[in-house]
This record gives sequence, C-alpha cells and structure tokens, in this order.
Amino acid sequence: MIIAIDGPAGSGKSTTARLLAEKLNFIYLDTGAMYRAVTFYFLKNSVNLKDSEKICEALLEINLSIHFYDKFEIYISDKNVDKDIRSTKVNEFVSFVSQIELVRKKMVEIQRKFSENRNIVIEGRDIGSYVFPNAEFKFFLIADLFERAKRRFKEIRDDSSITVNSLLENLKKRDEIDSNRSISPLIKAQDAIEIDTTSLTIDEQVKKIYNIINK
Ligand code: DC
Repeated sequence: MIIAIDGPAGSGKSTTARLLAEKLNFIYLDTGAMYRAVTFYFLKNSVNLKDSEKICEALLEINLSIHFYDKFEIYISDKNVDKDIRSTKVNEFVSFVSQIELVRKKMVEIQRKFSENRNIVIEGRDIGSYVFPNAEFKFFLIADLFERAKRRFKEIRDDSSITVNSLLENLKKRDEIDSNRSISPLIKAQDAIEIDTTSLTIDEQVKKIYNIINK
C-alpha cells in the first residue's frame, strides 16, 4: 500500500509521514532528502547547474542510495549524509536543482523501484500527482507561511544569523519555484485530501490522517 503525503516546506509533512509510518508499521521515504543529497553533491563538486553534460556525468557518479531498516537513511558512496543535506547552503539551492529534468527523472526512477511491493508512506511534492498517481491514499498538507517559517526556525542548527523573517523569504521563494516549475510541480492531486496543519500539533496531524486511513 502506498500513502502519499505532499505539501510545501514546513507544512509538517516529514514528521507526520515518519510518525504515521511508525504507527502503521510501514516503511518511510523522504523524497526531499534525495533532492537535497543531489544538491549537496553538486555543490561539493561545483557542478554547473546550467551544463547538462556535467549534470549527466555527476548523476552517473553520485552513487546515491536510500535505505530503511529501522529508520530512513540516505548515503552518497557509503557515507551517511543525513546531516549534511540540512545545511543553509543546501536549503538555498535545492529548489534550483530539483527543477532539472535529468535529476527528477533519476530520483523518480529510484523512488518507484524502492517502493515496489512495499507498504510505504512517501512524502514529497509530486508523489500523489506524478510519482504514484494510483496511490491508495493521498494527502496534501498546507499551513500558514509564518507558522511554517517558525517551525523551520526551530530546526536550524548551523547558522546563528538566520531569522524567522529570512526563513520566511526562503520558503516563499522555494514555494514559488516548486509550484511553478514546468516538470511535476508542487501541486495537490485532484483526489488528495487537504489538511491545514496551521493550528494542529504533530500528534493531531498524525491522528487525523491515521483515522482517515483506518476508516
Ligand atoms: O521537503 P524538503 O524541504 O526537504 O524538500 C527539499 C526540496 O526538494 C524542495 O524545495 C523541493 C524539492 N522536492 C521536489 O522537488 N520533489 C519532491 N518529491 C520532494 C522535494
């Protein structure tokens, strides 16, 4: 069974999807982490984002792998990059990298293969609309922009110059790029259930979705 959870950054997707998977005893896939890992690799290797040949080469060399044993983990050439991919620099560039067709093609291929014949909760931007249009359940989480910036602010570890306002601007910019890109943009699938998480606790979000699935 596939449960797709999409929505903008800071809408509560990741924590909700992870806890829901735990509650259902499903595995969990964070597709944003995959785009972040590619961004981290491109930045580290100074890949020119306008040069498709270099992008193609980098995608062949990256050796990206995802695993779920008791939690979701992401590796580049046997190095766990779970922490590296959450940096401010990656935040800044990830929306540009995830616009690149070659990158999306490769990520979607990995996502579909990884999910084959598994009970899985997958979170992202295009899961219900493009990656798994036949998912058994589709949820689209939204929340007020200021609330989302406040949530992201609590997660920042590597940069004391970051403010709620600068995060709000970054989220606004990413929402715009994610929603307006030509290939599989951030969009609510027609048959997705929309949940506004602005005034919900994580616990309430998980319960709400869990109850809908259990019905
Ligand atoms: O969920 P997140 O903030 O970790 O996602 C990081 C970026 O990856 C986000 O700006 C858009 C992109 N993304 C995407 O384009 N498609 C997905 N399925 C998941 C994430």
